[in-house]
Parts: sequence; C-alpha cells; structure tokens
Amino acid sequence: MKTELSFANLAGIETELLAVVAVDTQTAKGPDVKPEPVLLTSDEVVKAAAAAVLGSGEFKAGANETVVLHAPAGLKAKRLLLVGLGKQAKATVHSVRSAAGTAVRFTKPRGIRELVLALPEPAVALSDSALLPPGPCSRAAVEGALVGDFDADTYRSDRKDVSVQRFVLAAPPTADKAAVEAAFAEGAIVGESQNFTRALVNEPGNKLTPTILGARAAQMAGEVGLAWDVYSTEKLRELKMGAFLGVAQGSAEPPALIVLRYEPDGVTDGPVLHPTDKDPSVGTPVLGLVGKGITFDTGGISIKPSENMEKMKYDMAGGAAMLGAMRAIALLKPKVRVIAVVCAAENMPDGRAYKPGDVVTAMSGKTIDVINTDAEGRLVLADGLTYARQLGATHLIDAATLTAAIGVALGQHNAGAFSNDEDTFAKFAAALETSGEKFWRLPLGEEYAEQIKSDIGDIKNTGGRAGGAITAAEFLHVFAEDTPWIHLDIAGMAWIDDQRPYIAKGPSGVAVRSILEWVRSY
Ligand code: BES
Ligand code: MN
Ligand code: ZN
Repeated sequence: MKTELSFANLAGIETELLAVVAVDTQTAKGPDVKPEPVLLTSDEVVKAAAAAVLGSGEFKAGANETVVLHAPAGLKAKRLLLVGLGKQAKATVHSVRSAAGTAVRFTKPRGIRELVLALPEPAVALSDSALLPPGPCSRAAVEGALVGDFDADTYRSDRKDVSVQRFVLAAPPTADKAAVEAAFAEGAIVGESQNFTRALVNEPGNKLTPTILGARAAQMAGEVGLAWDVYSTEKLRELKMGAFLGVAQGSAEPPALIVLRYEPDGVTDGPVLHPTDKDPSVGTPVLGLVGKGITFDTGGISIKPSENMEKMKYDMAGGAAMLGAMRAIALLKPKVRVIAVVCAAENMPDGRAYKPGDVVTAMSGKTIDVINTDAEGRLVLADGLTYARQLGATHLIDAATLTAAIGVALGQHNAGAFSNDEDTFAKFAAALETSGEKFWRLPLGEEYAEQIKSDIGDIKNTGGRAGGAITAAEFLHVFAEDTPWIHLDIAGMAWIDDQRPYIAKGPSGVAVRSILEWVRSY
C-alpha cells in the first residue's frame, strides 16, 4: 500500500472512495433521543452530499460504523464513505486510528483499490478540538490504514492482491503542513513496522525456524542500518546459557540468539556502564529489549494437548515485536542507545529433550529446577535478560507470549505489564497514551517469589496455578535483578481470534508501538 498526503479540497478529489469521519454529538439520553451525527469536515459540498443520510437516523456515527453513498452529489469521488468515531466526548486520536483501519477494511472485499481519507477537522463539531489534534491524528490515520490493510492469508494459492494500492490522507488546505507531513511520515514507519512484526508472527513453524527468524532479522537490520549478530549453539555454550540451551536441545533445529544494536550518532561515545553498575543515573542509558522467540511450542516432554496446539507458531510474537520496534527505532532515530536480544528456539519433545526434574544452570549462575518443560519462555528469557545486562543495558523491557494465565486474567483486551521500578514504568504508562495500546499493570511481590523456591536448586520454573502470570514475572525478576525492568506478557493479545472492523483476525503486532514510544521517551 502506497501512502500519500494531499492538501486539496475534498470535493475536487477524483477517487474511487472518499472517506470522512463523523461523531455523534447527541448528549441527551433516553429511549426517544435520536443520535445526531456530524461530519468532521468543513467542506460544504461533502456535508451537502451526506445531509440526507445523516438526517435519516440510519447512520448513528457509532465507533467503526460505516455507510456508503454512490455517486455523491457535487463530488468528484465515485463513492463517499462515512465512518463513525462514536460519541463526541469519547472520540480520540485512537478512534481515528480505528476509523482509518475500518475504511481500508471496507474497501478490501469490494475490490476498491484506492482510498482518500479526510483528516478530521475537530473544530467543526467538538468543543474541545484539542482532543483531535491534526499531527497525532495524521499519524494515527496512516498507522490505522496500514494495520487495516494486513491480512493473514499469505499462503492461499488463489490469493489475489486485494490490498489498497493507494491510500491518501487529505488534510484541510489550512492545516499546518510541516507538522502534518512529519507526523504522517512517522505514522507510515510505525504502521509498516507493526506489519513487519505481524508478517513474522503469521509464519508457520516449518517456514520460520529459529535460523530463518535470525536471517529475517539480519536482513531487516541490513536494510535499515542496524548492527547485528546472529549466533547459535556454540555461542550459547560459550556464554554458558544453560537455560536457553536446555529448551533448545530437544529440537533438530538449532537455536538462534539474535542481537541488534542501534547506536545513534553522538550518543555512542558516552560512558559505557558496566553491567554491575547499580546507579542507572550514571552515564547514558542503554535500553535492552529482550524478546521470547519460540518459533513453535509443543510444550516439550510436558506436551500440550493437541487442540489449539497449531496456534503455538505465534510463541515468537514477543521476539517479533522487538524486531518490529527496532526497525521503527532505526528509521525514527531517537537519541538513545538500544540493544535487542531475541532468544529463538523450538520447544520439542525428543530423545535429547530436557525433562521435568532436570536442573539447568542459567548464564547468571542460578540453578533452575525444571518442573514443567512447557514453561520454556521464562528459561530462554532468563539468559536473554542476563545477556542484555552483560552487553550494558541499564534499563530492560521484555515481551513474551509467556502464560495462558494472563489471558484468563485480562482476556483479549489488555496485555499484562509488570515492573520493578516506578520511574521506568511511569515512562511506559505515558507511552501508552501515544500508542493507544492497552496494558494493565499487575503486581510483583515477595509472596509470589516464594512460590517458585525450589527444594533442589535456586528456583523452579513454575509456581502452581495461582497467580501464574505473576509467578512467571517473578521468575524473570530473578534475572533482571535490580536493573530497572518492565515485563510485558502478551500471550492473550498477540493473536486476534475474531475479525474486527479495523483489523483482521490473526497476528496483532501488539507491543511494537508501545515499546517504540517508551524508547523514544529516553
Ligand atoms: N507459550 C505458552 C503460553 C501461551 C499460552 C501463549 C496460550 C499463548 C497462548 C507458554 O510457553 C506456556 O506454555 N506456559 C504455560 C506455563 C505453565 C506450564 C506454568 C501455561 O501458561 O500454561
Ligand atoms: Mn510453553
Ligand atoms: Zn511458550
């Protein structure tokens, strides 16, 4: 999908489809109260063309609600699509992101290959027009359009390219051109990076082994100018990554330890913190992004039930999120050093596989009592976190499809977040305002850490059913130690099970945008 920006008058734009957003301005409530949808455009010709349907009561401007008019009077466009943002008081930049996705997904089954979306002019109907500022709305619109364009049917042999070929955002001629242009360019990078992640997550286990994931990461790094290394078994042995190796040893596919480095000009010369430095205020920060990259999770010897096991190809979504975030970081060039470590392996049952009761020694020296070979994500991340610290990370963030328990707790509408540091987490919470993603913070605590004490060694890799997402986080905490750290459990959110108006079912690309914004806040 090509993305363009235009400052032309809407009525004069020749296109297959012109989309304009609307809000419901009705504030009264009651059984007989009718919605009052208002278009967020000052274009009189467009307003006149839509007047009849707006007055009909058939279109209520609910969030992601659509109605299409053919041959709209007075417009050069062949069709006029109205997309709702919902109630005026609730319309935000994030509603615009969804509306853009909805408009794109409207075109796809209809074979419409071109779409012009009018940037909302909030002053038309909103008393607080600061709620929909043109810059953030431009960014969100192009992000939403790109995200809406993605479909998961990569391997369908009769797949036609039903993508929208051309997406144009039409900003009012009076808009602040420089601000809108910059935000638009940013949004395109972010949307494409999120889709980069989704394409990886969508790949089946046979097409995306740890080695291939490493090659894809290296290729991307080369394209966007990141330094990279992809290591395998030998390096894991050299680093004494006993936990990561334990998981990997049951597969014929060798593991991949993927390391990407972003070193902005002028920041690389700063004092390099030694990993054992305790004071993060000393020197320049180095952000460490650590991702779980299990390209397929059978559960290993503690094998999973066959029902839904096919979905475990998405168990590398945390790692893929880090790769997508690094792509965006390389292109947007924030002034902070970033290192990404993705631990890729396949979790398989085999004659050489690790077993329940095995004790493995992690890179940090801690001994781990393997109670369940299906709790493999925390094992690979344990060594990933230790390695990121050794490489100089002063602040850590990890992302993983770590536990089914997080999906039980939060469903498919919030991902889980944990942190050992208030300042670091505050920055993440602020990043969510921009990303529009929903993460809900859960507690850590000594009581939960108690649940993973081992009889034979230092810790065990499961802590029972109670608080399963939290004990998994406490396991990682042991390896983050006192480095400021955030853990994102995206198991419930990385795969969307049902079609939504603005996004296809399949890989969501969750966490890419929030990690990016968190990085940009340093
Ligand atoms: N990859 C799974 C978690 C998962 C489950 C992700 C469902 C996405 C959807 C993880 O490796 C796992 O198997 N976790 C176990 C841990 C348990 C054995 C302590 C779980 O959550 O059941
Ligand atoms: Mn597992
Ligand atoms: Zn897993």
